[in-house]
Amino acid sequence: MAKIFSGVQPTSIPTLGNYLGAMRNFATLQEGNECIYCIVDEHAITVPQDPKEIQSNIHSLAALYLAMGIDPKRSILFIQSEVPCHAQLGWIMQCTSYMGELERMTQFKDKSKGKQAIPAGLLTYPPLMAADILLYQTDLVPVGADQKQHLELTRDLAERFNNKYGDVFTMPEPYIPPVGARIMSLAEPTKKMSKSDANRKATIFTLDSEKDIIKKIKSATTDDEATVRYDRETKPGISNLLDIFSLCSGTSLDELVAKYQGKGYGEFKTDVAEAVVSMIKPIQERYNNLIESKELDEILDEGADKAYSIAKKTLTKAEAALGI
Ligand code: ADP
Ligand code: NA
Repeated sequence: MAKIFSGVQPTSIPTLGNYLGAMRNFATLQEGNECIYCIVDEHAITVPQDPKEIQSNIHSLAALYLAMGIDPKRSILFIQSEVPCHAQLGWIMQCTSYMGELERMTQFKDKSKGKQAIPAGLLTYPPLMAADILLYQTDLVPVGADQKQHLELTRDLAERFNNKYGDVFTMPEPYIPPVGARIMSLAEPTKKMSKSDANRKATIFTLDSEKDIIKKIKSATTDDEATVRYDRETKPGISNLLDIFSLCSGTSLDELVAKYQGKGYGEFKTDVAEAVVSMIKPIQERYNNLIESKELDEILDEGADKAYSIAKKTLTKAEAALGI
């Protein structure tokens, strides 16, 4: 029985990339494990957010977690800012980190590039993420490939703290799926699919309408070879669609490539879109039933209470080790 922790930022509605790379595994990992899932709103505010919008995104994300199969009877679901231990251990992790290693994080470099005034929270995001994970003595963290570097830093910080002050934290391992860990933008398939892409056609959101999903996939950038073949280097667009198709339909890449021998991209894209729609539709139906229910707040309140009782123990242990 492993302890699992992961989080998603309420910066928008989760994308197909968030789902295929991470959230899909959250539900399956519930079998035989102790899972804790978080709406990481304190991470979201490292860049400015509209208060009304983030409030609505928090609510939608909670409903989506449940619609995607998180069972509140088996797993803990809560909002980060409702458990103050995150910010408290986050501070301790900041004091455990070095400026140089934080400045080397690729997410920090990407998000601060070209900014006149860089919010300090962008730099200290990874120590807060380390605190999120370490508070629950986590064994396994299901994430997409873009979080691998932050996980490595988390391990470095845990080891540094444990070596200096005694064994307080469990060493966590990343759980990065073999396929789907990096779903690419539909418009520029050499970039990862991202919530914040200015080109709205580049990103599929999990609450997009059927019409929008079809439109976005039909206009996805491909190549002019007209052969459905998997090659991430020379055919990033088609390979990305193949990954999406395979994950949404449960059909292997080899089978798909064989099936589309001698067929054009038009037919292929129609079928990719259909696979995405049939996977997403039941999630959207469950979401529509959940979003209005009063149950949601109760689940989050109860989740925060349960999370707090675990997190508080680790925080107390860390503070005692530090002598504060
Ligand atoms: P984002 O990176 O979209 O702003 P988060 O940081 O909240 O969103 O990420 C939530 C989870 O989704 C993380 O585990 C992250 O690694 C994963 N993820 C994000 N983008 C992708 C992608 N394009 N492909 C696969 N996984 C992704
Ligand atoms: Na991310």
